[in-house]
Amino acid sequence: MRIGILGATGPAGGGLAARLASVGHEVLFGSRAVDKARGAVDELEKEWGDRVAGRLIACDNAWACDAPVVILAVHAESAIPTVQEHADRLAGKIVVSMANNLVKHGNEFNAVLPPHGSVAAEIQALLWRSRVCTAFHLVPAAEFGEIDHEMSSDVIVLGDDDEAKSTVMEITSSIPRLRPLDGGSLRNAVGMETFAAVLLTVNIRHKMRASLRLTSV
Ligand SMILES: NC(=O)c1ccc[n+]([C@@H]2O[C@H](COP(=O)([O-])OP(=O)(O)OC[C@H]3O[C@@H](n4cnc5c(N)ncnc54)[C@H](OP(=O)(O)O)[C@@H]3O)[C@@H](O)[C@H]2O)c1
Repeated sequence: MRIGILGATGPAGGGLAARLASVGHEVLFGSRAVDKARGAVDELEKEWGDRVAGRLIACDNAWACDAPVVILAVHAESAIPTVQEHADRLAGKIVVSMANNLVKHGNEFNAVLPPHGSVAAEIQALLWRSRVCTAFHLVPAAEFGEIDHEMSSDVIVLGDDDEAKSTVMEITSSIPRLRPLDGGSLRNAVGMETFAAVLLTVNIRHKMRASLRLTSV
């Protein structure tokens, strides 16, 4: 599948791009500056060779919107201004938010939630012609980026449009040992964004790199 990533030059977007390319997806690797995207793609090709080569296409964020599914991996504070800028290009697309807008107080993270209750709900309110989903909130960037390391994580996917959510779940399950779980509508995004603050706090206090795995009892 062709997948666009906005802000692919960061650790989360770059890691996800490499991981998706390694399982056969074509990734429009977006940045505000195409030269920066080209440099990052060169680095990934140098590191991973044939496992990603030819499937990472360096481009600007506008071009990266030219895919049926577009993942927002820009700096969390920039997620809302970025979708405002590209709203017309994102019309009709599935837009995936993974934004955790967090602030650090001492050795604790807290979520900063906008007026609609979550970054994802804010994005859906702005992108009323797009189908917004959320995924990957709780997967550490490094887990994606080390593509020779098998991942093991559950990914809760949210969205108001069932077909869009199924597509995002299929993309998730194309990565071995990532298990997509349907967590309901975007109303629950507040839970994911807030829990990301809890998980990061656990990780720094316990010196871990934990992600999410649900067990059935
Ligand atoms: N890091 C993680 O482990 C992790 C895990 C789960 C979810 N997330 C979420 O994933 C997203 C990306 O995380 P990250 O750690 O990779 O972020 P990041 O490094 O802070 O930023 C990613 C990219 O955002 C772009 N950017 C920065 N400032 C911008 C601005 N003012 N306007 C538009 N674009 C801007 C930059 O790309 P260009 O300069 O190339 O445009 C940058 O490389 C965040 O929403 C984060 O909450 C991260």
